[in-house]
Amino acid sequence: MKIGILGSGDVAKSLGAGFLKHGHEVTLGTGTPAKLDDWAAKNPKGKVAGFADAARFGEIVVLAVKGKAAIAAVKSAGVQNLEGKTVIDTTNPIADAAPVDGVLQFFTNGSDSLLEQLQREFAGVKFVKAFNSVGAGFMVDPQFKDGPPTMFICGNDEVAKKTVRGLVESVGWDVADMGTAVAARAIEPLCVLWCIPGLLRGEWAHAFKLVKPA
Ligand SMILES: NC(=O)c1ccc[n+]([C@@H]2O[C@H](COP(=O)([O-])OP(=O)(O)OC[C@H]3O[C@@H](n4cnc5c(N)ncnc54)[C@H](OP(=O)(O)O)[C@@H]3O)[C@@H](O)[C@H]2O)c1
Repeated sequence: MKIGILGSGDVAKSLGAGFLKHGHEVTLGTGTPAKLDDWAAKNPKGKVAGFADAARFGEIVVLAVKGKAAIAAVKSAGVQNLEGKTVIDTTNPIADAAPVDGVLQFFTNGSDSLLEQLQREFAGVKFVKAFNSVGAGFMVDPQFKDGPPTMFICGNDEVAKKTVRGLVESVGWDVADMGTAVAARAIEPLCVLWCIPGLLRGEWAHAFKLVKPA
C-alpha cells in the first residue's frame, strides 16, 4: 500500500520505518524536513515531503502530529487531498499543562474526543482511531511475553475500519473494534493510563491486552 504519514515525531518515524519493513511505500509529511534527515538516511526507501504531498501520496494516510495541532495539520495537508480516504488517527488530546501525579491532562472532556472533533470538522474524511494507546517503539511487531497485545480502534466507516484492522493485524496486533467515533472518548484516555507507570516510575515497556474467559 502507499501510506502517507503526516508527522515527523517518534510515531511518524516508527510507523514509517515499520511499514517500509512490511513492504509498503511510505512518504512522511512535515513542515520541517530537516527533522527527518536521520530517518531518511536510515530508511532510504522512504520519502520525505510536505504535509500536502504526503497526503496526496497516501492511499491510506496516518495523522501523527501533536494533538493541539491536529486540525491545523489536516488543513495544511489540504482536505481535498484526504477527502474519501481512510486516515488513521494516532493523536491524543494532551494539554500543555503538566501531569498531575503521573496523570496527563487533556484539552477534551469525557463527552468529546479529538477524533470526533476531526470527524466533525472534516466530514468527508474517514478517520479511524488506532495506535494512540501504546508507545511509538511498540507500534510495529510488538514483542510481549503474553503474545500479541490489543489495539483498540473506532470510527464511523466500516470499510475504513476493515482496512485499518488488516493493516494493524499485519504488524502484530489483535484488534478490538469498539464502535463509532464516539468510542474515542474511551480509547484516547488509554494513553493517559499507559503513561502513568512511565511518568511515575520510568516504566514504559507495556501494552494493553483484552482477555476473555476460556
Ligand atoms: N510518542 C509516542 O510514543 C506516542 C504514542 C501514541 C500516541 N502518540 C500521539 O501521536 C501524536 C504524535 O506524537 P509524536 O510524539 O510522534 O510527535 P509530537 O511531538 O507530539 O508531534 C510532532 C508533530 O506535530 C507537528 N506539529 C506541531 N505543531 C504543529 C502545528 N502548529 N501545525 C502543524 N503541525 C504541527 C510537527 O510538525 P513538523 O513536522 O512540521 O515539525 C510534528 O510533525 C501525538 O498526538 C501523540 O499524543 C504519541
